[in-house]
Amino acid sequence: MFKTQTCGELRATDDRKIVKLAGWVHRRRDHGGVIFIDLRDRFGITQVVIRSGTPDAAEDVFKVAESLRSEYVAQIEGVVELRPPNMRNPKMETGEIEVGATRIVVLNPARTTPFLIDSDGRDVDENIRLRYRYLDLRRERMQKNLITRHRFIKFIRDYLDARGFLEIETPILFKTTPEGARDYLVPSRIYPGAFYALPQSPQQLKQLLQVAGIERYFQIARCFRDEDQRADRQPEFTQLDMEMSFVDRDDVLQLIEGLLTEFTEKHTSKKLIAKPFPRFSYAEAMEKYGIDKPDIRFGLELFNVTAATRDSQFQVFAGAPVVKGFAAPGCGSYTRKQIDELTDLAKRKGAKGLVTMVHDAQGIRSQGAAAKLGDAEKAAILAAANSKPGDLLLFVADSAKVANETLAELRLEMGHRLKLADDNVMAFCWVIDFPLFEWNEEEKRWDPSHHMFTAPKDEYIPTLESNPGGVLSKQYDLACNGYEVGGGSIRIHRRDIQEIIMRLIGLEMEDARRKFGHLLEAFEYGAPPHGGIAPGIDRLTMLYCDEPNIREVIAFPKNQQAADVMAGAPSPVYDVQLKELHLKIVD
Ligand code: AMO
Repeated sequence: MFKTQTCGELRATDDRKIVKLAGWVHRRRDHGGVIFIDLRDRFGITQVVIRSGTPDAAEDVFKVAESLRSEYVAQIEGVVELRPPNMRNPKMETGEIEVGATRIVVLNPARTTPFLIDSDGRDVDENIRLRYRYLDLRRERMQKNLITRHRFIKFIRDYLDARGFLEIETPILFKTTPEGARDYLVPSRIYPGAFYALPQSPQQLKQLLQVAGIERYFQIARCFRDEDQRADRQPEFTQLDMEMSFVDRDDVLQLIEGLLTEFTEKHTSKKLIAKPFPRFSYAEAMEKYGIDKPDIRFGLELFNVTAATRDSQFQVFAGAPVVKGFAAPGCGSYTRKQIDELTDLAKRKGAKGLVTMVHDAQGIRSQGAAAKLGDAEKAAILAAANSKPGDLLLFVADSAKVANETLAELRLEMGHRLKLADDNVMAFCWVIDFPLFEWNEEEKRWDPSHHMFTAPKDEYIPTLESNPGGVLSKQYDLACNGYEVGGGSIRIHRRDIQEIIMRLIGLEMEDARRKFGHLLEAFEYGAPPHGGIAPGIDRLTMLYCDEPNIREVIAFPKNQQAADVMAGAPSPVYDVQLKELHLKIVD
């Protein structure tokens, strides 16, 4: 064994023990005559001391110590010593002791690293961090993140195992499994011109496992989606994928709620905002927050004054399909410049502009936009806004879509500026009762809001075809702190209904059979009612770790341009490989 203890283990009770440690040189401090080495391994840091000319350190030990540099790999033998009381470091777990070295072996020297390991790395260009990810992961911050991720996944496995779930792996080389993104395709050597698709999720397979009688399935599943990158998106990411038979919506919600509540409360320092998790209908979430993944750590709820301003003299309001806004507390004294910043943000979200008014001691200050508002309108706005003197009222008058998207963004911006969101809180909430379809204006057809295997609510089955836009579904989303951290639904388990949905979304029967014939066929052999969900492991871990993006909780993520800059992937391949795969590169 290279070590008798880890670098995080030794305490005062180990005084005078003879030990062997091995790890990396974290820091070296040379005080002339005395050298201190902080030796680091995954478990902690131990201070090693080498004194020139004293019996516990012969001169050659001192010479080796002098040659050590940051990130050298070294083995140290020595004696545990209590530090003098004034030298103890309560911030270090091993801060009561140090090890007097009697022997040092350099196991491997190291080049000067491209960045310091002894920092959180926030000041280092991300592509350099990713290029040297194996060094970046040595940081305490990154190791903590990987540990949290491991503990979360271990907890999930134990929790679900105890409740009768089976963990089952499903294929990566498969057929298109659409979740709204582009597929990653893998050309087949054996079948010229044919391709596997990497699963965007194991959706069809987990449903087939229900037909197979598994009843309770889960998988820590890798999913692949070729879509634009964002802070919370990766081309490959991990879901806790689950599916259950003979359940309705509340069974699934309760299971996930129990799992996340226990993990949050027993294994993290985070607080839950509410138990049980609040539920919003999709319509309510859109009305109050303008978005279906609300950050409910703070209020700033939207109000709607469309009806009250229908006949306004203020044309911007009177002429708009929707007039909505919210009150920013205490921001009535915002400067022109601050308002301009918010207006720019609104325009970037597609709004024509931003209307602002100040609520002062007299009510709504009658200047600018407000000058044209009648007294009744002002009174209606004040009643709806629930504001106080000194507040700034922000309005967007536009289509419902633009007004909601813009105000949702402005609400987050103001929540951030006013420091209203507590980072130590996990504000989980459910959004339910989604519309089954969204109208796709470009293609002039209905798109599934979730995916096409989601069941309509029973009461809408008769009007599926006559009024698709009015159909609500058995979809549910889980949101936390403004992120969508999970989504699922009760599924269609009857072939006739599945076929109607496919028709409505414009999938020709021929095409549907080619793509999903296996699933449609399976539904004819006694498919049980079933449903499931897929919480995103990366996004949840990101929130538990207080990280701003999911790359920080993935060991080897792609950068924002979907590239692995360490290995250099994607990369060109040899002509012979292309030939074997029956491929030709064309410009
Ligand atoms: P959905 O597409 O909503 O549902 O995905 C479920 C959850 O996966 C996470 N997620 C992502 N995380 C990181 N990078 C991405 N590119 C990415 N895309 C999605 C999110 C999201 O809430 N098969 C269905 C689930 C079901 O119906 O059971 C599905 O995949 O946290």
